[in-house]
Amino acid sequence: MTIKTVSVLGAGVLGSQIAFQTAFHGFDVIAYDVSREALTKSHTTIAWMIEQMAKDQTGTEYDFDAAQQRIGFTTVLADAVRKADLVIEAVPERIDIKREAYRKIAAVARPETIFATNSSTLLPSALAEDTGRPDRFVALHFANEIWRHNVAEVMGHPGTSPEVIATVTQFATDIGMVPVVLHKEQPGYVLNSLLIPLLGAAAKLLGKGIAAPRDIDRTWKIGTGAPKGPFDIFDIVGLNTVHNIMASGDPEERHFAELLRENYIDKGFLGVASGRGIYQY
Ligand SMILES: NC(=O)c1ccc[n+]([C@@H]2O[C@H](COP(=O)([O-])OP(=O)(O)OC[C@H]3O[C@@H](n4cnc5c(N)ncnc54)[C@H](O)[C@@H]3O)[C@@H](O)[C@H]2O)c1
Repeated sequence: MTIKTVSVLGAGVLGSQIAFQTAFHGFDVIAYDVSREALTKSHTTIAWMIEQMAKDQTGTEYDFDAAQQRIGFTTVLADAVRKADLVIEAVPERIDIKREAYRKIAAVARPETIFATNSSTLLPSALAEDTGRPDRFVALHFANEIWRHNVAEVMGHPGTSPEVIATVTQFATDIGMVPVVLHKEQPGYVLNSLLIPLLGAAAKLLGKGIAAPRDIDRTWKIGTGAPKGPFDIFDIVGLNTVHNIMASGDPEERHFAELLRENYIDKGFLGVASGRGIYQY
């Protein structure tokens, strides 16, 4: 099957980036959201992405304009998915919201349309039945700042057809991604299976008073050649989000969450986005 028309459901942080990346590579895209406000915000996200891509010299003004012409926006679900060969779902990371969204799209999409979830933590097998087409359902997981961090993890569930995996993998290549096909379902895919333990270990090293953030980062960067250390990554993710995740972890992670709140968050140091976090920007 050849993909020509793509629908992106949920035009938030990732959905907007997926929509623009796909249009930039020549596909017709329809971005759908339940909220009009979200669609307005999506234009701002896309404008920001264009600015960043221009800085990275990833395209010309002509390319960006042409890509924008290829994206339509709607709050009418049937209009969004009727013609789609592929629907990429990027609605909030809540199983109840995703299950309901799949039941609704299943009712209006063509039976041959492939559905792909961008979920970070849910396994496709948990949603497959709601899609009404388990064999044509797969996870296609992108990373934030999609054009820069252009890895796309393709992960089926036991019932996904090999042809669908192949089609989606080709599509990922066609939109400028480096596709990585997982052989089995894995919570957190490859990327987060590697990243989360690293971040957890860094949090514990700091919490136990073993070394300062800068030295923990320096050790990792110099010792492995990685461009960023765990505390650089915490600042990019945003310290409020990191706090919320760590606050529900084990006692050492909760201790780290407390340190973050006292030393950074309460002082307004929230990460890169606020100009200061663990580091000053
Ligand atoms: N933010 C990231 O860095 C990142 C990275 C990889 C994967 N993801 C995954 O992408 C998905 C979306 O994350 P996000 O950060 O873009 O979230 P977000 O909150 O920025 O966007 C979600 C959008 O979905 C809309 N929405 C809610 N219910 C909907 C429905 N039923 N149908 C259509 N739209 C609906 C919301 O109005 C919102 O605009 C999640 O599954 C998340 O795990 C996020």
